[in-house]
Parts: sequence; structure tokens; C-alpha cells
Amino acid sequence: MQKPSNSPGVAPPEVVEYYSKNWEKIANCYDLGLTGLPIDPAWYRRRLYQQFLDENCPGSIFDAGCGGGWTVLDALTRNIDAHGVEPVTELHAFAQSLISAEGHDPKRITRNDLSVIREHKSSSWDCTALLSVLPHIPTEQWDATHENIHRILKPGGHLVAAYRNSLFDMYTFNSLTVDFFEEHLWDITPTGDKNAHINAENLKSLIINPSIPGRHFTAAEDKSFGKLRRPKSNPLTITNYLSKFGFQVNRIRFYHFHCVPPLLKGKTPDFEEINHKMEMSMSDDWRGHFMAAMFLVEAQKV
Ligand SMILES: C[S@@+](CC[C@H](N)C(=O)[O-])C[C@H]1O[C@@H](n2cnc3c(N)ncnc32)[C@H](O)[C@@H]1O
Repeated sequence: MQKPSNSPGVAPPEVVEYYSKNWEKIANCYDLGLTGLPIDPAWYRRRLYQQFLDENCPGSIFDAGCGGGWTVLDALTRNIDAHGVEPVTELHAFAQSLISAEGHDPKRITRNDLSVIREHKSSSWDCTALLSVLPHIPTEQWDATHENIHRILKPGGHLVAAYRNSLFDMYTFNSLTVDFFEEHLWDITPTGDKNAHINAENLKSLIINPSIPGRHFTAAEDKSFGKLRRPKSNPLTITNYLSKFGFQVNRIRFYHFHCVPPLLKGKTPDFEEINHKMEMSMSDDWRGHFMAAMFLVEAQKV
């Protein structure tokens, strides 16, 4: 069936292509490295998700964009009636063999993107999991996507979703910080000042290069996913945003911590170990609002 372009949750071709090229990285993202520490921050997200499962025990879960299927397996091993969709052929095949090897029906995972949600019956799931998937949904589809997630959940049903933290950009001291100022702060600075533009240019230099004021660097990019555009969300306003669709937020937990701004990462001894300690102890700490690049929301349909 041809999907209308405004369907909520359609995976854009460049996203499918990216994950198709990098499928092994995603399928193995929960491995530990030689030091015994996780190689990917997704490990910490999965840990928080497992805690959610243990605390809430939903009867059924729709896991959209389930990648290598590990989180579907997490639910199945807890006797939860879990089903997943994954649009990337290689990841879909990996996920099916992963759960099949543990004795579960591979048909629980189908090759599809989140737009299949339109075909799901209203009030049919106890939980929907979107673990690092929403950042791949174009912003213009976000409202319709959240409306549909709400629709398919039973009353009291749970949404567990990972979002990118826009406030983290205030901590990076690079052009992402300048972008944050431009998008969220400079529209409230006094207008009509003929020097306003010059002041903004000075501020850019000062943010990025405080000891040598001068031309600001614009090379800093969100490099982790190449050129893919990935919307960010604000943990201070996500509760209001989700309430528009009838969700009550129960908990916001942070992960992908940076003990120092990323620019200092290479110069910081024990960076990985300190980060690991932060991940294991600070997911509920207020400092996650700017020291963590991602956050996991646990919400309920009211
Ligand atoms: C960062 S991976 C996370 C995988 C998995 N959720 C996990 O936590 O291990 C993002 C996944 O979302 C999938 N994805 C991207 N856009 C999607 C969409 N519109 N609908 C469903 N899945 C999508 C990708 O193919 C990829 O497997």
C-alpha cells in the first residue's frame, strides 16, 4: 500500500539507507569494549528500559524501530507479549533470528516503519516503546505521531520514549551552543539596537573561543549520525508537550552523560570511566538537564 507522505512515522529514505549501511553497529550496540565498559550510550538506555519493565510489567508492548531486537527480547524474557517493527531489512532479519534463537516466534517482528501505527486498533496496547526512534521522525510528523501513540494505548497505558536533549547544546561551547542561542534566546534580546548584530557576532566569538575573541568557528556539527537531521527536545518543556496529547509524564531519566564538554573529551583522563560512573548514578540527577545528550521519558495515557 502506498503510504501518504504525511503519514505519521514514515522512515525517510536517507534514514533507512543510513541504518542499512550501519546495521552491524546498531545490532551490536550493546556490546562491552575491551575495558569492560559499554561501547555505546544505548547500553545505558537499555538499562533504564529494563528497570522500567521490571517496575511496571506491562502486559503487551509495541516496540517501534526495534533495531536488532534486543529490547523486544528484554520484554519477551519477562513474559510480556512484545511485538516489534523495524524498517531496515538487515536489522529486521537480525532481530528475527535473535528472538527465534531464544524460542520466540520471529513473526513477532515485522519489517515496517512507525507509520504502520495508523493500522493499529485504538486502545490495543499496554505500552509503546520508541527507543531512540523519534529523533528520526521529521518534526512536522511529531504531533500526528504522538496523537497516534496515545490513540493505540489502553487507558493507563505507558509510553517509553527517548528524546535528544536540546539543553545539552548549552554545555558544548561550540557552534551548537550558538545555534541554541539563535533559536531560543536571541529572539528575546532588545530589538531596534543598531549594534545588536555586532554584539551577537561578539558573543558567538566569546562562546566558542573565550581566550582569543575573533572569528567564531562553525565547524562543530552533530557528527554522530552524519548529516541526518535529528530534532531535539527540551526536558523542561516535554511534560507540557506530551500533555497536549493526553499523556502524564511520570519520570524523566537522563543518559549519554559527558563529565566535561565534548571539546575536552580527548584531554580528560579516565573520561570513559567517569562517564560510566555518572551513567550508573545520575540518571535522576538535575545536572543531567545539561550534562546528558539524551533523556528517556516514561509517560502514561490519562
Ligand atoms: C538508534 S536505533 C535504536 C534501535 C532500538 N530501538 C534499540 O533501542 O536498540 C534507531 C532505529 O530506529 C529505526 N527507525 C528509524 N526511523 C524509523 C521510523 N520512521 N519508523 C520505525 N523505525 C525507524 C532505525 O531503522 C533503527 O533501527
